[in-house]
Amino acid sequence: MPTGSIVGWGHYVPERVVTNDELSEYMDTSDEWIRSRSGIRERRFAADHETTATMSVESGRRALDCAGVAPSDVDLLLVASSSPDYLTPPVSSQVQQGLGMPTVGAMQLTVGCTGFLYGVVTAEQFIQAGTCETVLVIGTELISRWLSWNTRSTAVLFGDGSGAVVMQASDTGGVDSHVLGSDGEGAQHIIVPSGGVAQPVTHEGVDNDEPTLEMNGREVFKFATRIMDGAVKEALRTSSHTVADIDLLIPHQANARIIQYAANSLGLSDDQVFMNLDRYGNTSAASIPLALSEAFDAGYAQPGDTIALVAFGAGLTWGATILDLPTSLPALSAQARSSPARTDASARS
Ligand code: UT7
Repeated sequence: MPTGSIVGWGHYVPERVVTNDELSEYMDTSDEWIRSRSGIRERRFAADHETTATMSVESGRRALDCAGVAPSDVDLLLVASSSPDYLTPPVSSQVQQGLGMPTVGAMQLTVGCTGFLYGVVTAEQFIQAGTCETVLVIGTELISRWLSWNTRSTAVLFGDGSGAVVMQASDTGGVDSHVLGSDGEGAQHIIVPSGGVAQPVTHEGVDNDEPTLEMNGREVFKFATRIMDGAVKEALRTSSHTVADIDLLIPHQANARIIQYAANSLGLSDDQVFMNLDRYGNTSAASIPLALSEAFDAGYAQPGDTIALVAFGAGLTWGATILDLPTSLPALSAQARSSPARTDASARS
């Protein structure tokens, strides 16, 4: 049975770097508080002309270039985002047009920070079923436009960005096992309450900064520390691998303390865990593909490696996959070739 192997990757981040010190100019916060509580030093904010669609097109194009795959060869496009350009149409159709793809299926997955992982698992199902040969999976968020500078505990954590992978039917590599989960009991803990049909935007709401992302940080922290290592362990139960086979863990980049807790519980050392949240903050559905793309570019993810991906987020949702990389990979993405990847210590935990 064919399996969906990663054969190309790419990412895009907006140019504008926003440091913790800059945030301290318009909020009662400090670089010391943000770094010690989350591990974040800076994040990127999109320019006015950028949208989730434009960033997705950029990272998607880079992933296709890396794989040497033409847009016309993609059978299915999946775009994970909880901050799409519009409630309708789905951003996936805008991205399809932007990439110059034919009129194949295109789908938006709105599953909070777990969206990209749901996308990878969905791509794998289509490839295994034999209905698709090549699937482009993108994760993109433009959350900065939903942040309120009146909510310092949430606003300091998030940033904008996009990452993408091309998955292709192959005899080597692929998704060895996965687990997906969702618990609507925790729906209120990460929410943009207005702007949907339950609470349409009003004049009064706009005066109050709406629509705005709201998060109960303490509850999410408790949930995350419970679910991160648990999801990986559950995925390993149906895998052909044990934890000793994991070469690299690429976790959702929400908080260095949460990642450290999961790594310790799994018995993984610092150099088996990839982190770039110090430079990008929490980019929600973009965080794993952005980290994955940088890990490939920096040479941390090698042909034949076994990689664990794990995410949690709004819903509350979670997921983990144990991935085998194919035995040969493109040398470097087009992006890394034109600007050499960072290989300094900040790319590792
Ligand atoms: O992808 C979505 C996933 N989301 C997450 O993973 C978020 C999970 N939660 C967290 O990462 C942490 O809960 C936070 C980073 C959000 C907060 O860290 P914490 O250690 O749980 O802090 P706290 O909420 O307990 O607040 C501690 C103190 C409070 O002051 P008092 O009441 O002790 O006087 C807050 O008012 O820190 C204060 N505080 C801040 N101070 C400076 C909260 N936000 C800030 C801030 N700057 N930005």
